[in-house]
Amino acid sequence: MGARTERRADLVVIGAGIAGLTAALSAVDAGLDVVVLNKGQRWNPGDAEHPTSTFYAQGGIAVVDPAIGDDSIDLHVTDTLNAGAGLTDPTSTRPILTDGWPAVSQLVDRGAHFDTDAQGRFLRTREGGHSVRRIIHAGGDATGARVQQALGEAAGHAGLTVLDDTWASDVLVHDGEVVGAAYVTAGVPGVAWAPTVLLATGGVGHVYAATTNPAGATGDGIALALRAGAAVADLEFVQFHPTMLFVPGARGRRTLVSEAVRGEGGRLVDVNGQSVTAGVHPLGDLAPRDVVARAVAAAMERTGADCVHLDITGVADFADRFPTVTAGVRASGLDVTGGYLPVVPGAHYLCGGVATDGDGRTDVPGLLAAGETARTGLHGANRLASNSLLEGLVMGRRSAVEAAARVGRRVVEVDVPESGAARVCDRTALQDAMSHDVALDRDAGGLESVAALLDGSPLRPRTDLRSAEDAALTLTARAIVAAALHREESRGCHQRADHPATSADPVSRQFVLDGDRLVAARERAVPTS
Ligand code: FAD
Ligand code: SIN
Repeated sequence: MGARTERRADLVVIGAGIAGLTAALSAVDAGLDVVVLNKGQRWNPGDAEHPTSTFYAQGGIAVVDPAIGDDSIDLHVTDTLNAGAGLTDPTSTRPILTDGWPAVSQLVDRGAHFDTDAQGRFLRTREGGHSVRRIIHAGGDATGARVQQALGEAAGHAGLTVLDDTWASDVLVHDGEVVGAAYVTAGVPGVAWAPTVLLATGGVGHVYAATTNPAGATGDGIALALRAGAAVADLEFVQFHPTMLFVPGARGRRTLVSEAVRGEGGRLVDVNGQSVTAGVHPLGDLAPRDVVARAVAAAMERTGADCVHLDITGVADFADRFPTVTAGVRASGLDVTGGYLPVVPGAHYLCGGVATDGDGRTDVPGLLAAGETARTGLHGANRLASNSLLEGLVMGRRSAVEAAARVGRRVVEVDVPESGAARVCDRTALQDAMSHDVALDRDAGGLESVAALLDGSPLRPRTDLRSAEDAALTLTARAIVAAALHREESRGCHQRADHPATSADPVSRQFVLDGDRLVAARERAVPTS
């Protein structure tokens, strides 16, 4: 590696998706000096892959438009709590959902366009668990790509410093308080000194063999937080989307088939043409996601087939309404004109994450987290569809307010330690074990065997992006497994064959890293109102 570069800022943002760029832009608006680190390459139109999950979002943003009479914050809160299976915290949920409309309005002011009707009102679709049509979308099912583009252009106009191809290796802490972040840009080490660092690193999908997430979703924020001394919470709740396109034997990022397809008339049927969700839930194919994913898995088991089918024959103008899905299906060598898409449940979203309060603060002063890597309490044991982009917007804005309050705090420029060695499990072995034993159905025997594999992995230096990602995957997977072992009940996305009952007293559980051990640090009863 070459000589180290150094820079100073009021705020270092790690991640350039919806949470990171919203926070960075809001902080720049407030006069802060901001630097954004993005391990992904700079994206150009036409590039096949994008580094953020934000770019791939399809269905849209769940938000209550105060001008619309059939919806209300109360109803959105109720749907979110119902989907969250008793673990959604109403004290954080209501304020986040209430701040949704101003946050979306600001996104529109920054240049985002959503699909509208002839009167200029937002078109709204429906997804699982929503009792009304409340999901606004852009370009049909290209919501994320349009939002990412708008934020990227706003960042350009604001002159925001975004360091692409730059991976954050460590959060730097002195006397228990954040002083900056260490990073590597194209092989050259650097450090950004700042009183506040925001983790906005997205998801963890690649702890599984097949996922809807982009390649960089390797749990870096979870690993950075744990190594910095922060707590993580409720990591056992990994959401599997019911309709990931099925391609036999395929690994890595797979095409999602949006839940909005079912909102517009798509139906899930097994290979014999029977409904997958009949008799399972009053909302049928539009039940909360964990329920539908389990119904899909049950139908596959019942029929012995490798997938179920999404019948799209009842969806008007499918290719026009869902151009992103159509392109993804075609890129996989399949065709939408046949009217039936093969789908399976796929690893999609981490409901738990770095534990934060309602302002994005972790328990390490100066370390904030927002977006998918954070756990605010909104998603409970199973996230309500399309609440994630909304949370990224709202918590991104709040993180900027918190960073502004910390401007001017003394930053001690400590000696930057070498990136230490970390446990690294072979990636394929890790993904296969997690997919086999820590997916929709779990039990103690399977979880313990994965824990033994991961906890016994060799120590390796984090020398480049690949080895750093492998270390993050290993630590994140260990934390998921530890949390899953501790939770001896079935709830939402976490189903234990050996503990099928749901406890009457839901608790949110935090873990910290103590030396090399993940230890349960705190349990909190979830408030009911
Ligand atoms: P991301 O958008 O994933 O951005 C993470 C950023 O962190 C990237 O820039 C990455 O390069 C960077 N990064 C990671 N690690 C490091 C590191 N060590 N150093 C530097 N940079 C790093 N949600 C909805 O609400 N509605 C939807 O319709 C919807 N559809 C979805 C469809 C798909 C296919 C997927 C995968 C997700 C979907 N979701 C949807 C979920 C939602 O898109 C994500 O949860 C959300 O976009 C996450 O935003 P984020 O800003 O937290 O992270
Ligand atoms: C989808 O379009 O089905 C994804 C929505 C989400 O993950 O919130």
